[in-house]
Amino acid sequence: MQAKTPEQSKTIMTDMVLPGETNPLNNLFGGELLARMDRAASISARRHSRRIVVTASVNHVAFNRAVPLGSVVTVEAKVSRAFKTSMEIFIDVWVEDRESGAKTKANEAIYTFVAVDETGRPIAVPEVIPETDLEKERFKAALRRKQLSLLLAGKIKPNEATELKALFE
Ligand SMILES: CC(C)(COP(=O)(O)OP(=O)(O)OC[C@H]1O[C@@H](n2cnc3c(N)ncnc32)[C@H](O)[C@@H]1OP(=O)(O)O)[C@@H](O)C(=O)NCCC(=O)NCCS
Repeated sequence: MQAKTPEQSKTIMTDMVLPGETNPLNNLFGGELLARMDRAASISARRHSRRIVVTASVNHVAFNRAVPLGSVVTVEAKVSRAFKTSMEIFIDVWVEDRESGAKTKANEAIYTFVAVDETGRPIAVPEVIPETDLEKERFKAALRRKQLSLLLAGKIKPNEATELKALFE
């Protein structure tokens, strides 16, 4: 299986915030942003694996900035690392200033997707070759995040989370 760069799975979705998608403060509803990020991440995982993909977990979400009604929002997703059948997807969310066009980072998230066959069984995916400094940094930390996610899901024991243990040694 041919390894791929994060750039090859890059997925950019740009859309507006409409009245039905906001909370009572007229800012983008968190669940709407989660859905947009899930869609972009799903396309990114599919581009990397060329398989059916399913969301296995939402590892991290930070709603750092409110996104007002009428904003133009760009969701950018890339596969940051692939393991055997799972892929970590890093998502950056940008808001575009109406007058200047400048983009400000509003939020970010990390999702895990798993490639599956037609019967829903996990299936192997290509490796990721990170290129930029940021891609290399995200690649390096991905194993630690995978172990944390599996630990929180009760799928591994604390003594199996070797990367997490190493943080405290
Ligand atoms: C995701 C799913 C395919 C995993 O199946 P499983 O039987 O747990 O399979 P495995 O234990 O072999 O795990 C498969 C991979 O997922 C990873 N994984 C499973 N749960 C995970 C979690 N909570 N966090 C991070 N990775 C996880 C495993 O580490 C493994 O990765 P690897 O092969 O790259 O090492 C299965 O749980 C599933 O189909 N879930 C429903 C998915 C879905 O419907 N999503 C939409 C929600 S509405």
